[in-house]
Amino acid sequence: MAGFLIRTFGCQFNELYSATIADALTRGGLRSSESLGEASLIIINTCAVREKAEEKAFSFLGEAAKAVGAGHIVFMGCTATLDKERAVRIAGRGLNVVDGTAGAEQVLALIGTMVPLGEPDCVAPRSLFPTANIELMRGCESYCTYCIVPRSRGPEVVVDGGEILRRAEQAVGSGFSELLFLGQNINRYRSNRGGLVEIMSSVDQLDGNFWFWFLSPHPANFTPEEVRRLMELRHIEHRVHLPLQSGSDRILGRMNRRYTIADYARLAEPVRENTDWTLTTDIIVGFPGETDDDFAHTVDAVREFRFDGVFLAKYSDRPGTPSSSMQDKVPSALIDERHSALLRIVQNLSEQSNQVLAGRCVDVLVLAAQVGGNAFGRSIDGRNVWFSCSEPAPGIGSFVKVAVDHGSREGLYGARAC
Ligand code: 5AD
Ligand code: SF4
Repeated sequence: MAGFLIRTFGCQFNELYSATIADALTRGGLRSSESLGEASLIIINTCAVREKAEEKAFSFLGEAAKAVGAGHIVFMGCTATLDKERAVRIAGRGLNVVDGTAGAEQVLALIGTMVPLGEPDCVAPRSLFPTANIELMRGCESYCTYCIVPRSRGPEVVVDGGEILRRAEQAVGSGFSELLFLGQNINRYRSNRGGLVEIMSSVDQLDGNFWFWFLSPHPANFTPEEVRRLMELRHIEHRVHLPLQSGSDRILGRMNRRYTIADYARLAEPVRENTDWTLTTDIIVGFPGETDDDFAHTVDAVREFRFDGVFLAKYSDRPGTPSSSMQDKVPSALIDERHSALLRIVQNLSEQSNQVLAGRCVDVLVLAAQVGGNAFGRSIDGRNVWFSCSEPAPGIGSFVKVAVDHGSREGLYGARAC
């Protein structure tokens, strides 16, 4: 049996596309392989958001080109749109490059001409079970000045509301426990069934035992009233991820984020008022022109909003973005220094947030279980949970209650309660 290998970089969109392709290949009779030497089809699904991910993809492409022999390599995703020439220089003219705006469909059409392919799952890829990733929209037109996505993924394309409800219903009906709705700026979703809140309210009406969540909102297109309405839904997870990016209004302006810290505080208020909900964010340190004072504002904001989790990134210059031609770049040593300082604060906040739950009982979605009594899952408010349980171990995708013994900056530790 021929083998295939998929290497995925980046976001949940890429995870979804890779899993869709992997499922179709497996159904076609190919075997998934971890070893470059064994695979006759290698698919590299790339991310261009930061330079590091891009360099890793190119270096993996180099290894793949040496190993693949007479087989095929497919280079897809954001970097495939942006730097096809470099990819071809590394891997030669035989390389198959599929534009990053094309999702999984075009890759499936291409590899269907090379190898046998089963029908892709029209609900959600089984290999992501128990989570069904469902696209609400793809592409982005928000044009944050540091971000390559509007160029690599192209303009917004919205999935019809009826189609989303149909996919959600089928996913729940076929046993998925969690629905994850995706959009680059999901607050711009509009369809014949309304915007984000309306479509999420319709999903909430579906019968079944499931949780759902969505990524990523944009503070400029979200209102506190909408946040409150979403928080009232029965099946929604108790967490909001709201990318802040910087704590300085001046830097937010240069980033073209179109909100101020005061606007953000109004949005965060309903979440912070409710101690059963968590608030997480993305922060970029070292955006061009960021002064010590701007950075101090970011530190203050992180402390003030008491984020339960922060995805902290060092600013990465992306060729072709507006910020890449800004003159006042922050030296990389200073970016490193600010990053380390903020990381310590962020880790302390995560630890405190998790420690508060010691002695409490939390609802957990089971993601992995071992024979012998150890399991792993995610709490309804988005925390990692490691717990012991007696045999038989709970099934992946089931919901359990865990009595929390203690918390660390990584998550919670406890024992199954019932
Ligand atoms: N440099 C650093 N981080 C970036 N992000 C997007 N573009 C860049 C960049 N050029 C981060 C933002 C965004 C997350 C998905 O990636 O914080 O929210
Ligand atoms: Fe990039 Fe901004 Fe679009 Fe997010 S909203 S993908 S950060 S341009």
